[in-house]
Amino acid sequence: MKHLVAPSLLAADFTRLAEEIRMVNESQADWLHLDVMDGRFVPNITFGPMVVEAANRLCTKPLDVHLMIQEPEKYIGQFREAGADVITVHYEACPHLHRTVQQIRETGAIAGVSINPHNPVSLLEDILEEVGLVLLMSVNPGFGGQKFIYNALLKIQRLRDRLTTRNLSARIEVDGGIGLHNAEKVLQAGADVLVAGSAIFKADDPKDTIRRFKEIGGEMMKFV
Ligand code: DX5
Ligand code: ZN
Repeated sequence: MKHLVAPSLLAADFTRLAEEIRMVNESQADWLHLDVMDGRFVPNITFGPMVVEAANRLCTKPLDVHLMIQEPEKYIGQFREAGADVITVHYEACPHLHRTVQQIRETGAIAGVSINPHNPVSLLEDILEEVGLVLLMSVNPGFGGQKFIYNALLKIQRLRDRLTTRNLSARIEVDGGIGLHNAEKVLQAGADVLVAGSAIFKADDPKDTIRRFKEIGGEMMKFV
């Protein structure tokens, strides 16, 4: 199956949000990735359901909402009402992850779970059957424009192996430090969804950059 590309609005020009979202609409992007940060789970604050709702009014693509917040269970209903199609919570923020994932599924959204770079994919062993997406962080969450942590490639492969062995269909999304220079490796390791912020919105031609992300191909490979 062809991979998906999800531009992250975090790197957009916030004085021209409507134009940036229109660019995404006209591009080959599959989803719009929205990074919600609370200044507690991560050392940065971005936006909440009101901005997601505004983006939803303009955006014709599914909204992929990445919650980097503590106690995400309190806000899942609000983000769903705001138009989120995919809602991803962090393993590190959810002591009752199974319950939170069920809560997301009950809203009708696709449930995603994310792990930070230091956490192994084995932590997700008993939740994989319940989720539609696993988001592997390839930078420490909080900021755009950071350097890709190459250990993520091994984690993608391990997770791909587990999903294949267990015949599960959760997508593997990778987020942080992805550009045209390393996207092929990320895909070859087994990713399905590429998130890219700076590489797209800071490019001279963002729409063409999205087209180039979509055109990257590649057989799955082992990086050992
Ligand atoms: C980081 C966010 C990312 C971020 C990626 O915490 O989750 O989605 O926007 O930005 P780039 O692609 O610039 O690393
Ligand atoms: Zn993100």
